[in-house]
Amino acid sequence: MTVRQLFVTTALPYANGNFHIGHIMEYIQADIWVRFQRMQGHQVYFVCADDAHGAPIMIAAQKAGITPQQFVANIAKGRQPYLEGFHIAFDNWHSTDGPENHELAQQIYLDLEAAGLIERRTIEQYFDPEKSMFLPDRFIKGICPKCASPDQYGDSCENCGAVYSPTDLLHPRSTLSGATPVLKSSEHFFFKLSHPKCVEYLKTWTQDGKLQSEVANKVKEWFTPNEDGLTGLSDWDISRDAPYFGIEIPNAPGKYFYVWLDAPVGYLASLKNYFAKGGPLARGETRSFENFMASPEVEQYHFIGKDITYFHTLFWPAMLHFSQRKTPNNIFVHGFITVSGEKMSKSRGTGIDPLKYLSIGMNPEWMRYYIAAKLNARVEDVDFNPDDFVARVNADLVGKYINIASRSAGFIGKLFDHRLGALSPEGQALVSQLQGQASSIAQGYEEREFAKVMREIMLLADQVNAFVDQYKPWEAAKKPELRDQLWSTCSTCIECFRLLSLYLKPVLPQLVSSVEAFLGVESLRFEHATQRLGAGWEIGNYKHLMQRVDPAMLDQLFELEPSREIAASNTPTPSNSPSAKDASAGPFIPGGEAIAPEISIDEFAKTDLRIALITACEAVEGSNKLLRLTLDVGEEKTRQVFSGIAKHYQPQDLVGQLTVVVANLAPRAMKFGLSEGMVLAASHAQEKEHPGVFVLTPWPGAKPGMRIH
Ligand code: 2FM
Ligand code: ZN
Repeated sequence: MTVRQLFVTTALPYANGNFHIGHIMEYIQADIWVRFQRMQGHQVYFVCADDAHGAPIMIAAQKAGITPQQFVANIAKGRQPYLEGFHIAFDNWHSTDGPENHELAQQIYLDLEAAGLIERRTIEQYFDPEKSMFLPDRFIKGICPKCASPDQYGDSCENCGAVYSPTDLLHPRSTLSGATPVLKSSEHFFFKLSHPKCVEYLKTWTQDGKLQSEVANKVKEWFTPNEDGLTGLSDWDISRDAPYFGIEIPNAPGKYFYVWLDAPVGYLASLKNYFAKGGPLARGETRSFENFMASPEVEQYHFIGKDITYFHTLFWPAMLHFSQRKTPNNIFVHGFITVSGEKMSKSRGTGIDPLKYLSIGMNPEWMRYYIAAKLNARVEDVDFNPDDFVARVNADLVGKYINIASRSAGFIGKLFDHRLGALSPEGQALVSQLQGQASSIAQGYEEREFAKVMREIMLLADQVNAFVDQYKPWEAAKKPELRDQLWSTCSTCIECFRLLSLYLKPVLPQLVSSVEAFLGVESLRFEHATQRLGAGWEIGNYKHLMQRVDPAMLDQLFELEPSREIAASNTPTPSNSPSAKDASAGPFIPGGEAIAPEISIDEFAKTDLRIALITACEAVEGSNKLLRLTLDVGEEKTRQVFSGIAKHYQPQDLVGQLTVVVANLAPRAMKFGLSEGMVLAASHAQEKEHPGVFVLTPWPGAKPGMRIH
């Protein structure tokens, strides 16, 4: 078999926040694929990096009072616990602000310029006169030109989905200073994507059958002619004016590459950095980075989310091709992860907190298995459903797969001195049956049809369990005359367990490493599927390999943080104030807790309190604390808000009432769905002595949507 040489990446995360579950899902998907390829004996370099540049990071660093470099370094420091925690084994983690990326991005640009694909044009853009800087689209807000919704970004409306230019916004303002932006002209650099040679090239590159069919179809739409009748592909503005945290454009003082120009170059930069560190050499690769990347047999793959398809299927291959570099063999696009069917917002970062998941003792391989069991090669969203998670892990992973070892290993240890016996013809047939699935399973992994692979493996586990049920080792163990049968049954189970472990190894690397130790076998690869342990093979002591999920863990994972719970039983006490328990110290501590530290009117103004009409209210199945409220806040659609008031109110008593809601609180994905705000209520800090929670209602006359000042 030819050893394939694979260069694999995931999308580079912005260095302005921690990973959310969407990142982890993508890394798990790619990691499974990479581990599978390695188990096939292929050579894989799997790298990633922080996407360091751009205005949002520059501004966040300014706010934090540190340099952008320090800011990015701080974020980078926090990456390891996630990656190690979920067994994501990148060979290298770098930064797009590293010297390799500066050099590569500048060289690619110069090559594109030499190819006649860079053009300078003077354009007008919004400029913040107070901050003296051009404003990125996301730092301009105003009224949507399509639906008149207030407080919308400069590039698109979150309410109606319209996409427009910042200059289309009504009453624009800079979110940095609050000033009204002015139009100012500046020379920008464009990559001429609309050049016929680019269009021609990209049409072929995107429609030659390599891309997923949904991706190819989507890309086709982008080629559809505009009103100008020429091409759907517009030239791409690749420059930004100082001040900007980015890479300087050669021979153009004060001009920087737009972050999306240098971000994908970061794939190459991270690999180059890995070569510079000697990683590939230590693994027997003697070519230089340049020679490796120039080798036609090296395959290049990028795992990405569907939202960044445009950049990866048009800009990136064009940049590479017209700078005479290798283009990706494929772009593997996945959908988003939803939680209980609710969409999560990338910018708001709602959803499952991966570190919380780990810190409460949830097994990372449960998550890896669950994600594998839901992922296919299409661009479909993956839903994390807590009940489904518990069911799949407990019933399938533990109940079917682990169970095979726990039903048989003890007997082999205790009764047969840890040695396997000869298999009966039925046992042999079963083992052969499992071995026969190796190529179909390998093909499923190769095609990223992980859900199909997990189903196939669990069907095999079902067959093994049916075999165990038929020969009932627990009964045979009581009858000396069935000793040989017992030995054969349990030995068959161990042979099958080894095969199932091999098949699951890309998904469960840590667990299978324990299995390898227990079975006393070398690191399992796909070629080992044809082998058997055989009679006489000695296995180790069996220790239980995986616990079941305790459903209470899911409650804990989705539990409201105390500070996010409605002002109910456990309102947090400011740390610098007398404890609530000291309320007895005198009558001057209102409501049993000291007044919170002073804030300015500006700080208060950040909280957008609105009048809301409770249009529906119901109990939440599975929770004795929460009620699900449907609120009319004067918007086009209603909101769903969960509130911890179930012990204090009957749902029907709340319907039709007006209340007050924090309307600009980041939505929060909870076990039962998304909570889009917080209803205000009053309570005493010492609930036991002063029971009751009292939902706020306005005086008569207030209408849904009115702001509370
Ligand atoms: O969308 C994002 O999160 C970007 N930081 C992805 C960049 S991928 C690559 F091009 F670097
Ligand atoms: Zn709109």
